[in-house]
Amino acid sequence: MSSASVTPPAVRKISRRVQNIRISATKLMPMLAAKVGGCVSLGQGVPSFATPPHIAEAVCRALREEPSVGKYSLQPGMPALREAIAEGLARDKGFHVDPDTEIGVTVGAMEALLMAILTIVDRGEEVIIPSPGYASHAEQVLMAEGRPVYVPLRPADWGLDVDAIRAAVTDRTRAVILCNPGNPTGTVYDEADVRALCALALERDFVIISDETYDFMVFGADGEPAPMPFSPASLPEMRDHVICINSFSKKYALTGWRVGYVAADKGWMAELLKVHDAAAICAPTVSQHAALAALRGPQDCVAEMQRSLEARRALTCKALDAMSGHFSYVAPRGAFYVMAKYLFTGAPSPDVARRILEEARVITIPGGSFGPEGEGHLRLSFGGDEAELAECFKRLEAWAKDAR
Ligand SMILES: Cc1ncc(COP(=O)(O)O)c(C=O)c1O
Repeated sequence: MSSASVTPPAVRKISRRVQNIRISATKLMPMLAAKVGGCVSLGQGVPSFATPPHIAEAVCRALREEPSVGKYSLQPGMPALREAIAEGLARDKGFHVDPDTEIGVTVGAMEALLMAILTIVDRGEEVIIPSPGYASHAEQVLMAEGRPVYVPLRPADWGLDVDAIRAAVTDRTRAVILCNPGNPTGTVYDEADVRALCALALERDFVIISDETYDFMVFGADGEPAPMPFSPASLPEMRDHVICINSFSKKYALTGWRVGYVAADKGWMAELLKVHDAAAICAPTVSQHAALAALRGPQDCVAEMQRSLEARRALTCKALDAMSGHFSYVAPRGAFYVMAKYLFTGAPSPDVARRILEEARVITIPGGSFGPEGEGHLRLSFGGDEAELAECFKRLEAWAKDAR
């Protein structure tokens, strides 16, 4: 599963930081599947929805009417977009930032995360990642020559174990990455636990890098979307200790447009933007127009996607319940992922995912790629449409009958 199986032509010329990282299994599995052929997917981190028409239309209009669309924007992003982002942060999270000095529009949340990590972490310094966690968080820490320190989530509910985090903090700890709702677990952390983590950050003087990519997708008990998770950025006392990151990718079906943002106190932002300048100059201007239309336009597209994802979640849970002899799981409360623990074998997760790919022609993601606590699991995404999900589970159920 590792990209390390390909021998580089001249390994001594490859930097240590690049030798230390790998392409994530989320990207590798679809590449393997393309070779197998005829596969359906529980692997994608992308909901099936198309970019909403009013966003596409706004971009077309801008392309026709505004010559600036084809040019670099201001380095931190278009002022109108930064204003819209600041309004949203104040309204939804009580996080009050100056759009001129405290927001950077980025090439997806991915660039924002990298900016944060490169700004905070020096060689050998530690970043705590609750495990299982999003694989690219750890890869980015390694790229900065830092050390990812995995701290297990509570296995019973994938909740945040703040005592375990406290025990893992050292003098070299620079940050904790909090992804809420969580990828790959679908957890929404309890507000009390997030508050306790914030108190710890202040006490031990580390930063919370708050990845809020899935904040729009929280499932309520009654099947209705629930309020956004509690953000560390909501606490005024956290101002110097939080870097808040978000994405337009999933909420507005804009994954291919590559646009996200980082919000933080201006002391941080001046430094973060140095990395942005060196890495990207600015986020694609055309995509910033898409993001602006997304924020300023009607929000029913989000409500519709939430309803569809709720139905897909129900379908997924039902299918897993029907295979309860083969899989157990913690019901996801957010995002569109579930970690399915396989009960039929003790084989490593890359082997199990590969067998399912080759024998059932279903893409799943090996849980071990999300940190040690993910081993023994497969990450299933229910971002695909209902017909594809139904086919995936039909194949998986037929395969699982003989699975050892
Ligand atoms: C937790 C998390 N953070 C960040 C990203 C990257 O998002 P973007 O497309 O905005 O770069 C993803 C994408 O899957 C993700 O799952």
